[in-house]
Amino acid sequence: MPPIHIAILASGSGSNAENIFNYFSGRNDIEISLILSNKAEAYVHKRAERLCIPSLTMSKQDLEDSNKILRVFRNYRIDFVILAGYLMLVPKELILAYPNRIVNIHPALLPRFGGKGMYGDKVHQAVVESGDSESGITIHYVNENFDDGAIIFQIKCAVSKNDTPENVASKVHALEYKYYPSIVDKIIKKEFQLSLD
Ligand code: GRF
Repeated sequence: MPPIHIAILASGSGSNAENIFNYFSGRNDIEISLILSNKAEAYVHKRAERLCIPSLTMSKQDLEDSNKILRVFRNYRIDFVILAGYLMLVPKELILAYPNRIVNIHPALLPRFGGKGMYGDKVHQAVVESGDSESGITIHYVNENFDDGAIIFQIKCAVSKNDTPENVASKVHALEYKYYPSIVDKIIKKEFQLSLD
């Protein structure tokens, strides 16, 4: 049986993309087949080159056109899509073409600190300013709004009064690296009825 082909959509550094690639490398049931970005200068392309993963940049306009994305996904036989630091909305028709097959990770406990403009350090800054005593990660299905789809998994970390946004970011990153690949693995196995080990 051919592997399940995954596309990772990323706009920035791509540390989660690399971590996910490493997790699945050596597996013959699931393969990272494409990295797609809206930014040609994103560091994720350098990582893709080093890891020998095909990577493409598409313009904002093309990424808003589901037919263009679907054509690319068909060329790479994409079955499942992972957002990892992708800053654009996913067009509705693409969501309909991949029902329950597009997931995102948000670096906070949704529904708090999500939505348009809430990404990267802005999220951790807002958490610290709120005085909340915890943050964490949320893995969720993607719908046509930012950070709004059904929640699949959340896990918390403590935030103390002395924590800076940088401290919170590193705690959250550690959770992302620990949980995102394995949760995605479970979702894919369930969705495609692969054998669970
Ligand atoms: C991560 O914090 C992720 O939760 C968020 O964007 C960030 C991407 O970081 N959606 P990286 O590009 O994977 O290093």
